[in-house]
Amino acid sequence: MAEKTDWADERHRKMIVDQRRFLWREDTISMLAGWIGIRPGISVLDAGCGRGYLGEVFWPHFGRGSLYVGVDCSASLLEEAREISGGWARGGRARFALGDACALPFPDGTFDWTCCQTLLMHLADPGLVLGEMIRVTKPGGVVSCNEPDNEVALASHPFDSLPDMSFEDLVLVAKVNRHWISGRIALGMGDWRIGPRVPSMMRELGLVDIDIRVNDLVELLQPPYETPRMQFRLEMMKENMAAERRLRRRGVADPLDEEHRRFFLAGGGTPYIYGKYLAMKRRIHRKTAGMMRRQLEEGTYSICPIACSFFCIMGRKP
Ligand SMILES: C[S@@+](CC[C@H](N)C(=O)[O-])C[C@H]1O[C@@H](n2cnc3c(N)ncnc32)[C@H](O)[C@@H]1O
Repeated sequence: MAEKTDWADERHRKMIVDQRRFLWREDTISMLAGWIGIRPGISVLDAGCGRGYLGEVFWPHFGRGSLYVGVDCSASLLEEAREISGGWARGGRARFALGDACALPFPDGTFDWTCCQTLLMHLADPGLVLGEMIRVTKPGGVVSCNEPDNEVALASHPFDSLPDMSFEDLVLVAKVNRHWISGRIALGMGDWRIGPRVPSMMRELGLVDIDIRVNDLVELLQPPYETPRMQFRLEMMKENMAAERRLRRRGVADPLDEEHRRFFLAGGGTPYIYGKYLAMKRRIHRKTAGMMRRQLEEGTYSICPIACSFFCIMGRKP
């Protein structure tokens, strides 16, 4: 039986809200809109729409005279989406419907553009949902999926103002990540590496003209943190460090650590490897936590990630 995530709970809702603040650059959205070929007057389905993010960011490119329908299995996220859409859905119609993406409540060939973002990566059977998205798309219409490869993101050590990790430590992190990701799949919680797999899934399901682009946003953070994006990221880092310190002071284990270990073991990892990993984390924490706190307080911390691993994949229904 697959484990279920409630995206409306406090932790997951916060994740969607925070990550969506600066997820795509506006110019990339414009480029994607042209590449996908959306235009005013079309009908759009956003599967697993959450708070209606895709509708909101793409609306300027298709909204006029269009119908946007967001489907999600969370009634409370849909309620938020409805309220937020009052601010952006002008000149066209935005509707939200409670439903399961595994059995979309629409007839075959209803929409010109069917899209999703970070939906397939969380599903036990992403092929079933992609098939449903294709079914409800009109012949000649487009299906697009924004999905990541989080293994790449997790395993690539960014360039930052802290001491480098050793090669052995990086290999250990990569090994733990692989078991953790495999554990999520084994527990039916989805494949966090799904992005690069989507083009072949689309091909097997009969789409044509398949192509893929990458989100070109690089989360650079460096003094004097001039942009709103950098200021927001900096605040998030400070908030996370403070929350971690509070837990440590109270001697309370972070519930996320227990979840992490559980997924790792479900993915074939051994307690011995996990012990080595925890020892490495403690060693690195002792070496760098004070340094990082000081740099954050003094405003000297910098980081430049090296992996771009969030994709937009599209295909056309013949
Ligand atoms: C990571 S969130 C992404 C939300 C939105 N697409 C965005 O990018 O902000 C995943 C969303 O998929 C929804 N979801 C998960 N499984 C679903 C299913 N089987 N049917 C419909 N919605 C689903 C969740 O409720 C959640 O809102």
